[in-house]
Amino acid sequence: MKKILVTGAVGQIGSELTMLLRKKYGNDNVVAAGHRKKPSEELKNSGPFEFIECEKYDDLTNIVKKYDIGTIHHLAAILSAVAEAHPQTAWNVNVNGLFNVLEVARENNCAVMTPSSIGAFGPSTPQDKTPQVTIQRPTSMYGVTKVAGEILCDYYFTRFGVDTRGLRYPGLISYVAPPGGGTTDYSVEIFYGALENKKYTCPLKADTCLDMMYMPDGIKAAVDLMEADPSKLKNRNAFNVTAMNFTPDEIAAEIKKHIPDFEINYDVDLVKQRIADSWPNSMDDSAAREEWGWDPEYDLEKMTKDMLINLSKKLNISY
Ligand code: SER
Repeated sequence: MKKILVTGAVGQIGSELTMLLRKKYGNDNVVAAGHRKKPSEELKNSGPFEFIECEKYDDLTNIVKKYDIGTIHHLAAILSAVAEAHPQTAWNVNVNGLFNVLEVARENNCAVMTPSSIGAFGPSTPQDKTPQVTIQRPTSMYGVTKVAGEILCDYYFTRFGVDTRGLRYPGLISYVAPPGGGTTDYSVEIFYGALENKKYTCPLKADTCLDMMYMPDGIKAAVDLMEADPSKLKNRNAFNVTAMNFTPDEIAAEIKKHIPDFEINYDVDLVKQRIADSWPNSMDDSAAREEWGWDPEYDLEKMTKDMLINLSKKLNISY
């Protein structure tokens, strides 16, 4: 079979998606590519690993040819809070990096999966049950790069026939690798706070409602979308996908069911709050459900239980 390349393989999604793909398609058929961060022993030892910079054409094209790559999961990206602090770098990584991936995919006949985000929406977007096709005028640099990416992927499909597909992920919650500088990171940090200190100071207001997803559903979505029958895909770049919806107050209450003396307090980060306030309260993911069978397994209750079990094992803390 043609091989699969995962860029951003050391990141929050990549570290788990790579392992799922290796389990499904064989270790040697999935090439993990990182940038600078050291890969885990598991990632490095279970299959091919390379360091690349996606903005460098030669880096990408050499890897694609060396391994005879047929599909690229392009996860290397800068998240929303960091993008706001470094907008020029965010454009370079999120847009120029993607452009390179698409060019190399066009030349080598590869399919491409690129994550978009709830960040691709803005304050003028309908905030509740945000439709698949709607107003997209984001006000964060992250959002600007995500909308540009969605449209660029559409262009490469219609103009050159590159098989591009994408997902608008909500906040992703996981215990394997930490997220790197997003607005929704609180939903991961809160579990570390609960287990390590029985308290957590949240950078978003108590009633900030955002869509979220547990990582097992997130990586399953990427695999299922790339396996979907292309003739059924009316929307390619990118599908709204969500699994649950909560505020900091609500997730804290759910954690308290397991750790009764857990306490949350608030110290609002104005940049993160402004970004979160510009994003939808909830998305309508019916197009993903209809076109390729999206059906998440984890809701708030099930995710919280599983996160606490697995993170407490990782941190060696009982609760
Ligand atoms: N989790 C991302 C962020 O907060 C949103 O896609 O930046």
